[in-house]
Amino acid sequence: MKADTLAIHGSFAGDSSSGATTVPIVQTVSYAYKTAQELADVFGGKAPGYIYTRIANPTTSALEARLTELEDGIGCIATSSGMAAIASVVMGLVKTGDEIIASAGIFGGTVSLFENTLGRFGVRTNFVDAADTDQFSKAINNKTKLIFIETIGNPGMDVPDIPAIAKIAQESNIPFVVDNTVTTPFLIKPGEFGADIIVHSTSKFINGHGTAIGGAIVDTGNYNWAAGPFEDIKHLSKNMRRLAFLAYLRNIIYRDLGGCPAPMNSFLMLQGLETLSGRMAKHCENAEKLARFLKANSNVSWVNYPGLADSEFHERVGKLFNGRSGGLLTFGLGDKQKAFRFIDSLKLAKNMANLGDAKTLVIHPSSTIFHEFSIAEQDKMGVSEDMVRVSVGIEDFEDIRNDFEQAIEKALEVEK
Ligand SMILES: Cc1ncc(COP(=O)(O)O)c(C=O)c1O
Repeated sequence: MKADTLAIHGSFAGDSSSGATTVPIVQTVSYAYKTAQELADVFGGKAPGYIYTRIANPTTSALEARLTELEDGIGCIATSSGMAAIASVVMGLVKTGDEIIASAGIFGGTVSLFENTLGRFGVRTNFVDAADTDQFSKAINNKTKLIFIETIGNPGMDVPDIPAIAKIAQESNIPFVVDNTVTTPFLIKPGEFGADIIVHSTSKFINGHGTAIGGAIVDTGNYNWAAGPFEDIKHLSKNMRRLAFLAYLRNIIYRDLGGCPAPMNSFLMLQGLETLSGRMAKHCENAEKLARFLKANSNVSWVNYPGLADSEFHERVGKLFNGRSGGLLTFGLGDKQKAFRFIDSLKLAKNMANLGDAKTLVIHPSSTIFHEFSIAEQDKMGVSEDMVRVSVGIEDFEDIRNDFEQAIEKALEVEK
């Protein structure tokens, strides 16, 4: 089946007992077995079966199977949030004294996890310029345990050279982790370009309606865990082979950290997936139009959208993202006051800390997602004080344009 069909039918042929064509919500904590021996066998891995929803759940398994198919991976673990996905992957790979290389200009929560939380445990992160591929190879040393990027930095909007970074990671035998939240498998399957692990915040485009927080980890099958420097995973690979990393996560890290999704949320993600392809096409189309409209507006100081012809990433997005450039853009009106007045004047677009919703959403990253970082630190992360981030929705474009036009005029009124 092709991706558009898999998103609707993948790995679920209907519920044979009821005839339901949607995946049932198995809202349970645990699963009963008739005999003590049966449950002991499931615990011991001698028989398949569900034990406890913190480890696995049938509704969540259906979501995991569908995401595995859509990303062309070998397996998936769905999590309670995007941050839980990233934290689980990283906790599975690093220990005190290890280092991470991450692109700058990525989600503030991920920066905080790497810098503050992992920093407290003695893990150091080198943030490098996503656009300068050489910086990734220069930052590698014998303590480096993973390279992390976002397909399009949120909110930096840089598009790293994924195949080139994958090659660098491969040559040094370091797992390459790619956050595909902003692009989704409908724009890119990072595994095809050499990524080893894909993470998602499914709260965004996959859910698509702002109704549930979730995340996912997909192993693409590209990394040879039997030959890696991770002793516990290497040991597991004797029995679990290519699934060693996912088995290690599910049975130890994920189980211990407790970042499982609620079955209801897995159901909502499955529903979102069914319409993802159509929504992504419209998000990208509207974002391209809005970027061009803002670019042509003389009151707008700058626009950052990789699909614009003068973007340094224009050629790369054409090659990597199926000819599309995503639904996210940033722009500036010159200073923070104008950014605030613009946001306050919007009538249709909502001012909130989410992206990937069907609705157009805006936020002032400097005073919100990045508020805990100094202006100098924000600058290094690609965040400026006048920046407005827009997650372009799937409304009629004319309505979005009219809303932005009147809000820009109001933002500048005081000056005139
Ligand atoms: C690119 C990216 N990755 C990860 C996350 C974290 O996801 P969640 O909010 O689901 O924990 C976000 C949240 O905004 C994000 O934008």
